[in-house]
Amino acid sequence: MSFDATNDTFSMTPEQKAVFADENSPVAMVGGFSLLPAVYHDEPRLAEAFKTGKGLRWSDHCNCMSCGVDRFFRPGYRAHLIAEWLPALDGVVEKLERGAKVADVGCGHGFSTRLMAEAFPNSDFIGIDYDEASIDCARAEISGARNLRYEVAKAQDFAGSGFDLVTMFDALHDMGDPVGAARHIRSAMKNDGTLMLVEPAAGDSLADNLNPVGRVYYAGSTHICLPTSLSQDVGLGLGAQAGEKRIAQVLRQGGFSQIGKPAASPFNMILEARP
Ligand SMILES: C[S@@+](CC[C@H](N)C(=O)[O-])C[C@H]1O[C@@H](n2cnc3c(N)ncnc32)[C@H](O)[C@@H]1O
Repeated sequence: MSFDATNDTFSMTPEQKAVFADENSPVAMVGGFSLLPAVYHDEPRLAEAFKTGKGLRWSDHCNCMSCGVDRFFRPGYRAHLIAEWLPALDGVVEKLERGAKVADVGCGHGFSTRLMAEAFPNSDFIGIDYDEASIDCARAEISGARNLRYEVAKAQDFAGSGFDLVTMFDALHDMGDPVGAARHIRSAMKNDGTLMLVEPAAGDSLADNLNPVGRVYYAGSTHICLPTSLSQDVGLGLGAQAGEKRIAQVLRQGGFSQIGKPAASPFNMILEARP
């Protein structure tokens, strides 16, 4: 920010405004700053978790952590999900327009589920998350949509079947048993169904990820994603920078055979998986 002493005013460049002052901008980063107090708050518990290796459950983090995550990811979903990511999938928008059954697994505060439900009123959406407090927040924001509901459940054993589309936004790598989750999702989907996986942008090696976005994600992963995964059964600990190859391996182990990357943004990679 610059200060002009002649007229006593502060100003931002258009780029600074897009990052710091406009929450509707696709590159807004202010949500990340609301995550930081939660990480500092959790520091003693995280230090203990590093020693024991037992991790820290999502629900045991400071409760404003999930608010920060929600705020951090919203601008990207608002900018890309309906306009770019869903249209990049093979035949999915046509199904959603006709009327499809959709599950958004690991939905957190449910912003992604709500965006899709509002855009496709003929389809039915369920948002699923194992964190009760997040589902309470998601339910509080439903604006009378009749095609949307939220349930507390685990990705590895949620109820329901015959889904045309399952989505996961920045959630698979947080899970202790992502292979079990992928396997259950595959069994709950129709044979011509699609899994859309939105994961943090990442290359396949450490060297590929030593850039500003990768550094932010490694820091977030160490404090949030890895402890969450290690606190669950299996505790695979993929981390937010697992990369496309490793995620595709998990999906293949879960029973998916056709896996591609039809879209990407500076912060996310979009994987499409089919049985
Ligand atoms: C990084 S947050 C992403 C939340 C939301 N999808 C978003 O993009 O804002 C990861 C979410 O995965 C959920 N999660 C982690 N492990 C889970 C599991 N085994 N089953 C269901 N949800 C899980 C957490 O509770 C959390 O809400």
